[in-house]
Amino acid sequence: MQQVDTIAEMRSLVANLRTQGKSISLVPTMGALHEGHLKLVDEARRVGDTVVMSIFVNPLQFGPTEDFARYPRTLEHDSQLAEERGVDFLFTPTKEDMYPSYAPVVQVHSGSVGKEWEGAQRPHHFEGVLTVVAKLFHIVMPDVAVFGQKDLQQVAAVKAMVRDLNFPVGILVAPIVRDPDGMAMSSRNRYLSVKDRELGLKLSQALFAARDAFQRGERRASALEAMGWRMLERVVGLTPRYLAVVNADTFQRVNTVRHGDAAVGAVRVGETRLIDNIIF
Ligand code: PAJ
Repeated sequence: MQQVDTIAEMRSLVANLRTQGKSISLVPTMGALHEGHLKLVDEARRVGDTVVMSIFVNPLQFGPTEDFARYPRTLEHDSQLAEERGVDFLFTPTKEDMYPSYAPVVQVHSGSVGKEWEGAQRPHHFEGVLTVVAKLFHIVMPDVAVFGQKDLQQVAAVKAMVRDLNFPVGILVAPIVRDPDGMAMSSRNRYLSVKDRELGLKLSQALFAARDAFQRGERRASALEAMGWRMLERVVGLTPRYLAVVNADTFQRVNTVRHGDAAVGAVRVGETRLIDNIIF
C-alpha cells in the first residue's frame, strides 16, 4: 500500500492508472477505521482493479459545536488495517491542500434530500459532505465509490448529486456492520462509556422493534414511529432526537410503509450523537 499525502501526487497516480487501463474504486472515510469501513474495502476490491481509500476529517461537515477537534485520529493503526485489507493507495490530504482558503466559495447543496432529519439537526452538514465528496471524485476519478448504509441520508444525498450533476461514478452501498449485540459500528462509539453504550444500544432495539412490527403487518408509519419513540423516551440518560419512516431515496416521510422504505433514527447520549437505520 502506498500513502499519498497531496492532491497533485494523487492526480498523477490516477493518470498513470488510467493509461494502464486500470479501473479505480474509492472508499471515502474520516478514519478511526473499524470493520464497517473495512467491509467497504471488500466491496471496492470486488468491483475494481485498484482500491483508493481516503482518510480526511472534513472540517466543512462539522458544526461549530460538534466534535471536529476531538474526532478520533488514529492514522498509524488505520494505515495498518487498510493495508491488511488490501487498499492500494491511502489518500490522506491535508486541510490546507483541500481547503486553501477556508471555506470554499462554491459548495454543493443537498436540496430536499438533505433538508430533514440529520440535515435539520446539523445545519450545513450535507453541504460539507457533498462538497468534499465532489472534490474527492474529481481528484480520484473513480469508476465506483463505495458508501455504507449506516449513513443512509448521506447515501441518498450522494446518489442525488451523482444523478443531478452527471458524475461519471457508480455508487455502491454496503450493508450496516453491527456488533454482536446489534449496535451499529461507528467511529463515535469509542466516545461511549460501558454505561452509555448500553443506553445507545436502545436505538437499534427501537428500530428492530419497528421492523418486527412491519413484518407482523403494521403499515402505518405513524404507528411504527410512535412505538419506537416510546421505547427511546423512557430511557433515562438518553435523548431521542428523531425517529422517522422515510422513502430511502428522497428522505421524505411516508404515511404508508412499503418494502424498501427506511426507519431512521438519532439519539444523544451525553455529548455523543448516534444514528442508525433499518430498511423494511
Ligand atoms: P465515516 O463516518 O468515516 O464513514 C465512512 C464510510 O463508512 C461511510 O460510507 C459510512 O456510511 C461507512 N460506515 C461507517 N460505519 C459503518 C457500519 N457500521 N457499517 C457499514 N458502513 C459503515 O461518512 C463519512 O465518513 C464522511 O461523511 C465522508 C463520506 C468520508 C465524507 O467526509
